[in-house]
Amino acid sequence: MKRIAAIIAFVSVLFFTFPLWAGAVKILPESTSDRTFQFVKTASTFLGTPLAVNALIPNALVVMGKAESPNLFIEAAGIAYMLGQWTHDPGTSVKAIRSRDRLAPISIDTSLKEEDIHRHNIILLGKKNAYYRKIRSRLTGKGSFIQVVEDGLANGRDTLFVSDSKAGFYLANRRLFFKSGAYRGFFSFVKLGALIMKGDFDAALFDLDDPQAVRSCGKPVILAMGMGSSVPVEMLAVAKKRNRIVFKDLRSALKSGDKELALTTWKGAMETCYACHQGTADVKKYRKFVPLGEEHGYHQHIAEQFGLECSQCHSGTRSIVGYGN
Ligand code: HEC
Ligand code: HEC
Repeated sequence: MKRIAAIIAFVSVLFFTFPLWAGAVKILPESTSDRTFQFVKTASTFLGTPLAVNALIPNALVVMGKAESPNLFIEAAGIAYMLGQWTHDPGTSVKAIRSRDRLAPISIDTSLKEEDIHRHNIILLGKKNAYYRKIRSRLTGKGSFIQVVEDGLANGRDTLFVSDSKAGFYLANRRLFFKSGAYRGFFSFVKLGALIMKGDFDAALFDLDDPQAVRSCGKPVILAMGMGSSVPVEMLAVAKKRNRIVFKDLRSALKSGDKELALTTWKGAMETCYACHQGTADVKKYRKFVPLGEEHGYHQHIAEQFGLECSQCHSGTRSIVGYGN
């Protein structure tokens, strides 16, 4: 039991503490560069058909050379899979499907087209490929590292270089796994608020238990709760409060059919997001970067579809900040 607790504590610390992560896999040029790389974007997919819809699609292509080890290939597959978990759609068009284009965001260096380099950011794995020498002089990392090179292979397109399979493992199983859960959960949480405002309690209750919905950045929050004294008590308190509100109080408020109570409870949960992300008088700011407007702003699209005003969720301690200013 002790050992399990120790492992959980360790994993959780890794989720929240930058220097420790840096000890394992260095993130360059900033310790948050892997968080703020534009992996995804919003676009209209299936254009020209009745299915056309605004969705999150991959904005980065995973690229590597044939001569790399099987271990690195496994991480490449993991990265592409996690990008798939995060996005809504591969970004397909009828034309691409008809011309039998590859839909997964993964490619061998020799089959990469010039236009791919201009259209996407590139996640470049390992050194045994045709592109490494083009960015080598700009890389400063040593050992296992991830480094973002601005305008790496094309103007206006960044390259995220992944040095080896250890760094690849981190990217797939820590960073992108977290992003996929956090964003899916975030969008579902916003939808949940909208459903409560519209009085659709059955759909709201369904959302609470749907594995694709309200988990928010709950994964690290749940991990944090297992780590006892190694996490700041204030953060632990916010994490516990958030989980109690989302998974207990909100459920009973929805079951009781009391709209005012459900809405107040939901807003209480939103205050915990703000506490950890922005900091308050009692709680430090635990999220060390401003999220990117491209993917984060998709929640505004959801809100608009429900015909909501920003101020229905954002007021007082939940005022709009970050990229919104
Ligand atoms: C216990 C603290 C805590 C609570 C409560 C919390 N978060 Fe987070 N959240 C974080 C931290 C820390 C990060 C940044 C993790 C990292 O370093 O990548 C984060 C990141 C995120 C991200 C990803 C941002 C990005 O671009 O990578 C989303 C989305 C998110 N949280 C949504 C929510 C929502 C919605 C809620 C409320 C329902 C919430 N979080 C509650 C601590 C918290
Ligand atoms: C149904 C509720 C809801 C509506 C409506 C809504 N938002 Fe949000 N918004 C949220 C939640 C929940 C968060 C907290 C997640 C987080 O901090 O990452 C948030 C966070 C934000 C952030 C914070 C970014 C940061 O620094 O973390 C911005 C900016 C933002 N919203 C802009 C808007 C704008 C602009 C509108 C109107 C077009 C809008 N929102 C409408 C629920 C909503």
